Amino acid sequence: MTTIAHGPAGNPTNLCVVGAGYVGLTAAACFADLGHRVRCLEASPARLGLLQRGGIPIVEPGLDDLVARSVEEGRLVFTGDVDEAMRDASIVFLCVGTPPRPDGTPDLGQLERAARDVVTATGRDLVLVTKSTVPPGTGEALEILCAEVAALGQRVDVVSNPEFLRESRAVEDFFRPDRIVVGAEDPDAGRRVAALYEPGPPVVLSDRRGAELVKYASNAFLAVKISFANEIAGLCERLGTDAGPVLRGVGLDNRIGAQFLSQGPGYGGSCLPKDLSGLLAVGEAVGYTAPLAAAAEEINARARVSVVDKLETALGGLAGARVGVLGLAFKPGTDDTRDSPAVDLVRLLVERGAEVRVQDPLAAPLALPAPRVDRALDVAAGADALVVATGWSDYAALDPALFGDAMARRVVLDAVNVLPADRWRDAGFVVYGVGRGAPTSFHPVVWAPIEWALRSRPAADHLPEPVLANG
Ligand SMILES: NC(=O)c1ccc[n+]([C@@H]2O[C@H](COP(=O)([O-])OP(=O)(O)OC[C@H]3O[C@@H](n4cnc5c(N)ncnc54)[C@H](O)[C@@H]3O)[C@@H](O)[C@H]2O)c1
Repeated sequence: MTTIAHGPAGNPTNLCVVGAGYVGLTAAACFADLGHRVRCLEASPARLGLLQRGGIPIVEPGLDDLVARSVEEGRLVFTGDVDEAMRDASIVFLCVGTPPRPDGTPDLGQLERAARDVVTATGRDLVLVTKSTVPPGTGEALEILCAEVAALGQRVDVVSNPEFLRESRAVEDFFRPDRIVVGAEDPDAGRRVAALYEPGPPVVLSDRRGAELVKYASNAFLAVKISFANEIAGLCERLGTDAGPVLRGVGLDNRIGAQFLSQGPGYGGSCLPKDLSGLLAVGEAVGYTAPLAAAAEEINARARVSVVDKLETALGGLAGARVGVLGLAFKPGTDDTRDSPAVDLVRLLVERGAEVRVQDPLAAPLALPAPRVDRALDVAAGADALVVATGWSDYAALDPALFGDAMARRVVLDAVNVLPADRWRDAGFVVYGVGRGAPTSFHPVVWAPIEWALRSRPAADHLPEPVLANG
């Protein structure tokens, strides 16, 4: 991990962080490292027990050292007792989960309970900060709740400070974010929250609804960008060209940017799908349609299914086919499998009758309809096909000859473009990818603007029959 230079906080503050997940544990450890005194409240006994024994419940580079140092130096404490957590806190960060409900709207139950608990645990004035991702308007709802449960004369300012960290780079992102967004109705409360990050990055101050919307809009934009890449990848497949260089060519334009612009099985994880459907639900609630966000969601669902369709075509059916799947985490570098495209691929393959075995180097344990094996090569025994579903760099170095020897058929579908395709082809594999087209799918495309080329010059004998696209 890169060493991050940051100075001590100008004004050490007593903080309570509620929730020790990816966001809360990172925030608690990093605020403590900045010099603040942090009590971190965690409701899960298993998670809390592990933290109190010096363990870390999530995989994040650098987080274990940071936690150990701050605990040892007395600036960070983990507790399950709300009274202890709130003993001297003046600012509280709510970092609890806001998972999607079946209709796509976020479930704010954890947030409501946490707010109620912390406010009633003290009679002191508080700044209550939502770091969890919430729909615009949640701040007002929390304010109403706090007014109901607060002690007589107790003032609670509700501030929005959405979190933008990326899993697998959470610590680095906390210390070097592109921006901090703080939304408050009371400017002084907003300034107090922004000051906690000093010396720090650019701060965007707005009203509370605006700050809440920044988070939804940012994730919606990233989702749209990935779906756009997959839309272009689909076009590449039909044109018989490779989406890799096409998207690189697009992304190297500074105005566009290369990040989140690659083809694959679509976006996943605990944030992008949830926040995009949250944005759509908010739009609906206020009578506003968001066709771009809706299209991104539709393209994303199609991206997952199309990987399985492609394998089904390649194998001439999936019923009874043995498929080895490499990857479960929603992206490399994390153990998180929430809404992971890889997990969906496993489920879809099993639904269509395939016998699946799966491996991932780090993914957290989860219920799967297929056995999980330890080593990558273990998925290969007798397999008709291999699917690479998470872009772990270790997979790029796998030896295709070993896999070929173990498998019944040499078919590989690299959904995340991580394998060196030429090496696998040299080892006798038929290699499928996303945005690369099937190995035999090329046809010259003829449509009105270029039809003259074939009319004026007779097609060479060796060319396949042209396909007339667009009439
Ligand atoms: N994971 C990310 O990459 C990421 C990035 C930015 C924003 N967010 C948002 O941040 C929020 C938290 O995400 P996460 O991934 O850290 O979730 P998580 O599920 O990993 O962690 C939430 C933690 O809160 C605890 N908790 C719930 N209610 C509690 C209570 N009343 N008291 C004490 N502890 C309680 C849970 O036990 C859990 O450990 C979500 O709204 C998410 O959308 C997540």
